[in-house]
Amino acid sequence: MSVADLSTPLKFAYWVPNVSGGLVVSTIEQRTSWDFDYNKKLARIAEDAGFEYALSQTRYAASYGADKQHEATSFSLALLAATEKLKVIAAVHPGMWHPGVLAKYIITADHISNGRAAVNIVSGWLKDEFINFGLEWLEHDERYVRTEEFIRVLRGLWTEEGYSQAGKYYNIKDFTLSPAPVDVPGRPHPEIFFGGNSTAAQATAGRVADWYFSNGKDLEGFKDNIAGVQASAEQAGRRPRYGLNGFVIARDSEKEARDTLREIVEKAHRPAVEGFRDAVQEAGPSTKDGKGMWADSTFEDLVQYNDGFKTQLIGTPEQIAERIVEYKKIGVNLFLTCYLHFQEEVAAFGTDILPIVRELEADAARSAGVDFDPDGTLAVPSKAGV
Ligand SMILES: Cc1cc2nc3c(=O)[nH]c(=O)nc-3n(C[C@H](O)[C@H](O)[C@H](O)COP(=O)(O)O)c2cc1C
Repeated sequence: MSVADLSTPLKFAYWVPNVSGGLVVSTIEQRTSWDFDYNKKLARIAEDAGFEYALSQTRYAASYGADKQHEATSFSLALLAATEKLKVIAAVHPGMWHPGVLAKYIITADHISNGRAAVNIVSGWLKDEFINFGLEWLEHDERYVRTEEFIRVLRGLWTEEGYSQAGKYYNIKDFTLSPAPVDVPGRPHPEIFFGGNSTAAQATAGRVADWYFSNGKDLEGFKDNIAGVQASAEQAGRRPRYGLNGFVIARDSEKEARDTLREIVEKAHRPAVEGFRDAVQEAGPSTKDGKGMWADSTFEDLVQYNDGFKTQLIGTPEQIAERIVEYKKIGVNLFLTCYLHFQEEVAAFGTDILPIVRELEADAARSAGVDFDPDGTLAVPSKAGV
């Protein structure tokens, strides 16, 4: 079954650069800063440019550069307070948080922002963060067992009164959080994004996530990912939405864009990229079937640490817009984007690429005989298992 939704516009997000060093591990010039003033301005630029979401990163220790890091939930809250429309997705690790504490935190952020708080549940790959904090480091697939329970608690506490859940990792007894999250039409609770690429991650996401986030992929790779998530979502009678990471290099000519990519890779910080390659062996490569995030990444891929070059959003604005709509036709609902020079390039994305995307989306709907609603919004599943 095709999961493509041609009737509603694609959504766009950007990675919040809340860790130092930008989004590529390279000594090429990056006019991107990880400090709050830069990020506050960036968030305002992004919402004016037509971006609906920003995604912060959770990182407690350096690993591949990213030497300094701002904490994700507090940074996200500050960005919510500094903006009017932007939804800010805070990344969080089960294993570092109790789901009840997070549920409460996000409700408060939701009230402060009038219904714009969201979370990205990440199961973790940087073993040292857990071990050196004295926390338990679970085996790969077991991390997803905990994550699934965590998300069920979160959703239960956001949507039900007197919520109880007895499980392996959490035991919640007759709990009511008051106030509840803000009542936003079409949104049953703050949206739950989920990042992970392995077989266990896909199966879990299908059962409990509102949104499945993928690392960068080519068209075939993304089709495989969707198939994995859909198999478990259909069994559970759910309909998650799909987000895909891509590093955008838009230049006046394709040659200029390709030259920029070459320079990023030539100037890669080799020891940091190699160190990252070692650390991520705890992710997809450590599973029984060896599938998952970074399992098939080359050195060049890892220079953008979420495989963003694989999506190939590289070329002129027209070429990038065309590629974006190709992905929409196979089921992408949201693009998560990153750049060398965030403020300038996020603004340029809004003026140079987005209008072409909207035209091409209307054309694609027309050719498929589908009504395109430029103001339409995607419905998200209301409950786990529903
Ligand atoms: C879009 C996206 C964002 C992520 N953000 C973070 C993050 O902020 N912090 C983190 O430790 N891991 C992050 N991850 C990593 C995942 O939680 C997970 O560890 C990784 O995808 C490996 O999963 P796998 O072994 O199931 O493939 C992110 C993953 C994706 C796809």
